[in-house]
Amino acid sequence: MPRVFVSDFIPGDILEPLSAAASVEVWDGGGHVPAATLVEMLAGCSGWLSMLSDTIDAKLLDQVPDLDVISQMSVGVDNIDVAACREHGVAVGHTPDVLTETTADTAFALMAAAVRRLPEGEAIVRAGAWEPWDPWHFLSGDLHGSTLGIVGMGRIGQAIARRARGFAMPVLYTSRTSRQVPDAMRVGLDELLRRSDVVVVAAPLNAETRGMIGRSQLASMKETAFLVNIARGQLVDTAALVEALREGRIGGAALDVTDPEPLPPDHPLLDFSNCLVVPHIGSATVPARRSMARLAVANLVAFFRGEPMPAWLPGSAPHGTGADPASDLPTGSR
Ligand code: DGY
Repeated sequence: MPRVFVSDFIPGDILEPLSAAASVEVWDGGGHVPAATLVEMLAGCSGWLSMLSDTIDAKLLDQVPDLDVISQMSVGVDNIDVAACREHGVAVGHTPDVLTETTADTAFALMAAAVRRLPEGEAIVRAGAWEPWDPWHFLSGDLHGSTLGIVGMGRIGQAIARRARGFAMPVLYTSRTSRQVPDAMRVGLDELLRRSDVVVVAAPLNAETRGMIGRSQLASMKETAFLVNIARGQLVDTAALVEALREGRIGGAALDVTDPEPLPPDHPLLDFSNCLVVPHIGSATVPARRSMARLAVANLVAFFRGEPMPAWLPGSAPHGTGADPASDLPTGSR
């Protein structure tokens, strides 16, 4: 039987098909697997069900020559050197699609909370500072009808655009592909930043996109506009964002992801009442996480049966005869 290492708890009913196909060892050391322990845990394993918190690079792959397949329980694979996996003959799977709608819901929750100042309002109530109703008190802009700019029109970007229709929001977007999206206009990043009332970052993190929202991009945004990041913290230059918030150059921000992560409690981003930060919970619903775990398991089971993995990552080692169901999207697309 092939041996498989699993980097975090997976519910027993979901793990069951993998346990039937392989000898499975699940990390039970608490927290993330320390990098130094990974080589030891992966010794003799041909499969690995990995997490975002694992760093998977050539140096590690050199030390685990038995590894044939990695299936990661996330859509984002920025922790994985996919080219190195290909060179080492390691096929990679991930978990697209099953978290798309949930993450788009989170994007809308963040947009609404930031634009309508919900965290500030809640803080006032909790602080005992709720004053009698006043027609001119605690005003904000509207979310409905405002222009939404989506940076990165992958699966999640498209799901956000679909929701925007219900809010009567004109949608602008950037995309590396020439994909046309109904009722939305593809524009360059600078135009999107200049025209949008809410900018949502939904692009994958890679060498091209790292730091794509920096000082000059923030300067292009309207003074009243909000920046929402549901993708990866490193897409935004944190120091530049802090500066923009401090100088009141944008309306505010709502971040599901930050750089660094976790954000230390004394981080300057937390100094601003118009900057909402939540702890990377974009896909953290029971149904989405269970579906992600199920897909991560299904990738491995298919691999060991010699069948196409349901969500093989293009760019990793070729595997079986199957194609990625979303292979029109660039590698690692969200
Ligand atoms: C992902 O899947 O990439 C998310 O960031 C975690 O759900």
